[in-house]
Amino acid sequence: MTRLAAATWPEVEAYLKKSDVLLLPIGSTEQHGPTGLLGTDHLTADAIAREVATRTGALVAPPVCYGMASHHMAFAGSVTLRPSVYQAMMAEILRSYYHHGFRKFHVVNGHGGNEPSMRAVFQELKHEGLEGASFHFYNWWKLPEVARLADELYGEREGFHATPSEVSLTFFLEGIESRPYDFKARSDIDEKGFNWPVTAVECRKIFPDGAMKSDPGLARRAHGELFLKAAVESIAASVKERR
Ligand code: NI
Repeated sequence: MTRLAAATWPEVEAYLKKSDVLLLPIGSTEQHGPTGLLGTDHLTADAIAREVATRTGALVAPPVCYGMASHHMAFAGSVTLRPSVYQAMMAEILRSYYHHGFRKFHVVNGHGGNEPSMRAVFQELKHEGLEGASFHFYNWWKLPEVARLADELYGEREGFHATPSEVSLTFFLEGIESRPYDFKARSDIDEKGFNWPVTAVECRKIFPDGAMKSDPGLARRAHGELFLKAAVESIAASVKERR
């Protein structure tokens, strides 16, 4: 039993008598270029967190599938929460788990846009005084082992959104071999004036198909398995260290 969603309350109560560790996958529902899946950021975070749970025996919470993605709203199917609402929601989720006795929170993040808000949430909660709570935050694609692999496979064509690494991982999870993408057609993107954060309209103007300096055409199902393994090993080691 490693999934909170598939556990009963007596099982969670029993778990809390021996452990206070909780894995929390967070992501987003947003465009990932013309070949990437809208669920990329939560599919990846959830898959990694579940596998870490299996390896460590830690309980994994249901994924938070929506995030802070205002800048993607000019692309169909994207969903966002405004930063203040997202922060309020995430703080309530963490307060709830703290209330029951969870203390070591390992947040597995799949979406860069969530990070500033999550850092603010951790500060907010510590300001309130959640004695004994500790927050460990992982941007899975930035873990050294994962970043090294992406660099070996894609070099600078990894880019920073709709990246071949995250697209590969979803292809592995969803059983997609590869999808063609014309990187050359968009290599002349004018990034002048790009200064984070940007609005949805500004974002689409700078990155017309939604990919950001990345070549998702390099994504392969087989690479996805390697990224999953690298991320899981790194986070599992961190969870074990802090038990
Ligand atoms: Ni993403």
